[in-house]
Amino acid sequence: MSEPINSFFVLICALFVSATLLVSLRWKKSRPRRLPPGPPGWPIFGNMFNLGMMPHRTLAGLRQKYGPVIWLRLGSIDTMVILSSRVATEFFKNQDLNFAERTVTDLMRSHDYHEGSVALAPYGSYWRMSRRLLTVDMLVAKRLNETAPIRRKCIDKMLTWIGEAASAEKVRLGEGIHLARFVFLTTFNLLGNLMLSRDLFDPDSKVGSDFFVAMAGLMEWTGHANIADLFPWLRWLDPQGLRRKMDRDMGKAMRIASDFVRERIEERKIGREDDRRDFLDVLLEFEGNGKDEPAKLSEKQINTFILEIFMAGAETTSSTIEWAITELLLNPESMVKVKSELSQVVGSARKVQEADIDQLPYLQAVVKETFRLHPPIPFLVPRRAMRDTVFMGYDIPKNTQVFVNTWAIGRDPDVWMDPMVFKPERFIGSKLDYKGQHFEFIPFGAGRRMCAGVPLAHRVLHLAFGSLLHEFDWEFNGRKDPKTIDMRDRLGVTMRKYEPLLAVPKSRSM
Ligand code: HEM
Repeated sequence: MSEPINSFFVLICALFVSATLLVSLRWKKSRPRRLPPGPPGWPIFGNMFNLGMMPHRTLAGLRQKYGPVIWLRLGSIDTMVILSSRVATEFFKNQDLNFAERTVTDLMRSHDYHEGSVALAPYGSYWRMSRRLLTVDMLVAKRLNETAPIRRKCIDKMLTWIGEAASAEKVRLGEGIHLARFVFLTTFNLLGNLMLSRDLFDPDSKVGSDFFVAMAGLMEWTGHANIADLFPWLRWLDPQGLRRKMDRDMGKAMRIASDFVRERIEERKIGREDDRRDFLDVLLEFEGNGKDEPAKLSEKQINTFILEIFMAGAETTSSTIEWAITELLLNPESMVKVKSELSQVVGSARKVQEADIDQLPYLQAVVKETFRLHPPIPFLVPRRAMRDTVFMGYDIPKNTQVFVNTWAIGRDPDVWMDPMVFKPERFIGSKLDYKGQHFEFIPFGAGRRMCAGVPLAHRVLHLAFGSLLHEFDWEFNGRKDPKTIDMRDRLGVTMRKYEPLLAVPKSRSM
């Protein structure tokens, strides 16, 4: 080709490529993304003000207008909300992998907590390894069976505390006890015994109570909505002072956990006096493949593991039991049924044991019905889209945060008959359970990121709840008319009763 023709040809090709690029870019820009419907938002703030004080309820209410998948912009965060069992089924059955990441909030970055956390780990090899460690090495049935006496001891202690409270003058006169607090302290102690072989809530132990106070702080701060998450450019300002408080308590809890770990390492060097092996030993003995997972866990990872189990297990369990007893007090015929089942199966001569749980279908049904109406984590732990994804015909961009509203799903009128009525009988003779296979009932979530603590939670819940019912008769605080009981909830780390239940225990033997 001659020189001018050659240049002309190159020019034409360049123009063609640029034009194609421009058109495709413009098309990409102008092609409307198909997002789910949702309420219009404010500039900058988006839909922040649409959530109200009880976002799980407010969002459930939007289903009528916008359908079961809705779109919100919370400050700068794109958010998809799932409100029905049908959509949850599509999400967990067919799209779980596309949404297997988590959103990491500012508070969870405190002292780099997120780097050792199972719940917040990116979907990858560290997450896989730490989850396996939890489910296979720590919470496998054999190890759980071995640790049953520890749980029994802690529940006995709770029954003694409540028995003592029950004989106090003011309680006998009808003033109730703050039940959830007793259960929270017990679960905390129980986890401390399983993990570290220590009573952490021990008035005689300064370090134990310092740890308890620091952990209670972590749970309190993470339960607040943090403006810095919605507007990341405000992080440096820490407008509510939450990060400062979190840094203080996280630092304290990490230091104490670290002292426990070092003490144990020293003990192991000189040889332990007994042959007990708790969860901390499991963590210290862990051996990874050294390739895509560490050969050993670092001290920081072990500390985070310890804190995580307290955060995951203590409030969830105590708030479930608080709701369960409240519902039974409001539904006396269910109370009679559950207590007569306990009398028949366990009898009056002994206490409830974990081995009884399978023979107590009505007790299990009460726990399930409580979970359906009062799931402790109503949005699950929010997921995040790993990539641009087409979901139910909508174009969901990468990094979208997802709230699966399990509170709304438990009341979905398409799958639940009389959804607002407390009726444990609906679970009798039904195979429906919370192991993540039935998407209309997912208090522990489902899919890859489902709760890793279900086997432990299942045992602790039924043992504690069954024991409370078997050892005591319960009444509402004497001055309260059951019709006036406040059933509102408030969302913190878990969905608790807004007004704590004050209940009067009467020992069976009294
Ligand atoms: C009543 C008790 C409990 C309830 C209701 C509960 C509920 C949940 C829920 C809803 C999730 C998120 C699931 C999802 O995103 O699909 C979760 C995650 C998790 N839970 Fe639980 N939980 C409880 C007790 C426990 C206990 C006792 C432990 C530990 C021993 C635990 C450890 C975890 C962990 C590690 C995760 C993160 C899993 C992951 O991201 O892979 N939970 N839990």
